[in-house]
Amino acid sequence: MTTKPITDQKPVMLRVTNKKMENPGYATLFFDFNLIFKPGQFIMVWIPGLDEKPYTISHHSKNKFAVTIEAKGIFSRKALTLEKGDLVGIRGPFGNGFDIRPGQNAAVVAGGCGMAPLATLVEGLPESITFIHGARSKDFILFPDRFTIPREFCTDDGSFGHKGLVTDLLAHRITHGKPLDMVYTCGPEIMMYKVFELCETHGIPCQVSLERYMRCGFGVCGACVCGKQVVCKDGPVFHSKALREMKDFNKKALLKSGKEVDLSLYFSWRCQ
Ligand SMILES: Cc1cc2nc3c(=O)[nH]c(=O)nc-3n(C[C@H](O)[C@H](O)[C@H](O)COP(=O)(O)OP(=O)(O)OC[C@H]3O[C@@H](n4cnc5c(N)ncnc54)[C@H](O)[C@@H]3O)c2cc1C
Ligand code: FES
Repeated sequence: MTTKPITDQKPVMLRVTNKKMENPGYATLFFDFNLIFKPGQFIMVWIPGLDEKPYTISHHSKNKFAVTIEAKGIFSRKALTLEKGDLVGIRGPFGNGFDIRPGQNAAVVAGGCGMAPLATLVEGLPESITFIHGARSKDFILFPDRFTIPREFCTDDGSFGHKGLVTDLLAHRITHGKPLDMVYTCGPEIMMYKVFELCETHGIPCQVSLERYMRCGFGVCGACVCGKQVVCKDGPVFHSKALREMKDFNKKALLKSGKEVDLSLYFSWRCQ
């Protein structure tokens, strides 16, 4: 186990110490490293000879951390083929992370693989929180046995929990439970936008973990701009105030080429 600090610019090479296939499309890669981090922050993962991409920390203890990756494009599919002993480069952690205030009456709303950055947050919140998780089907529910806090589930196909959307469950909770004073969310951008709109309607502050294509990870290259914000440095977690002013939220994103795309055409590149 190494305790050498991870740097901003030069990757530290770490071996995969364990790999867990969560389901055919998601894998968790574990590393022995004493990473100092805050829930919601991310690291840049470099597969030599291929590329480097950002991933949030899905598991964290004093001497270990892990990332949970959903197979999507070339990079993430390759990541799912990595095995114990394979070397990857790690930089970070980067970004701001979630803002946790003691005594909050909070709800955590996860969509698909958006559970990954929320998992370590949930583990630091009181048992009394409302915890909602939506997935496309039962097989895609991430970390089904991990938490002591009860989770309300919904699936697109009705194979587990409520058949429908996380916003159905959140709306019910808002109108039937004690007033919420914070909602944390991560998942497809359209889902986070709908959660944000619901929070705005009911005057509930919200924290949203956004994704954009990233290159440097620490605010110098401009690859991840979203309106006036730089997602890697000002985010990836944004509060309601910033989201209200963010005209590109759920609207536009930059591709690797720098070309701007309409997100309604791309739907979500994160965890559909
Ligand atoms: C802060 C942060 C944290 C992240 N954490 C995680 C995590 O914990 N787990 C995880 O699985 N992923 C996470 N991601 C996403 C991850 O970095 C990769 O984007 C993802 O794994 C897909 O990479 P790829 O190269 O395999 O696929 P790609 O080839 O990049 O693309 C897959 C799909 O997304 C579309 N796409 C790519 N870029 C854009 C864009 N800018 N706008 C719209 N559509 C686009 C592509 O057209 C394609 O359909 C995170 C991203 C960020 C920014
Ligand atoms: S990735 Fe370079 S500025 Fe955000």
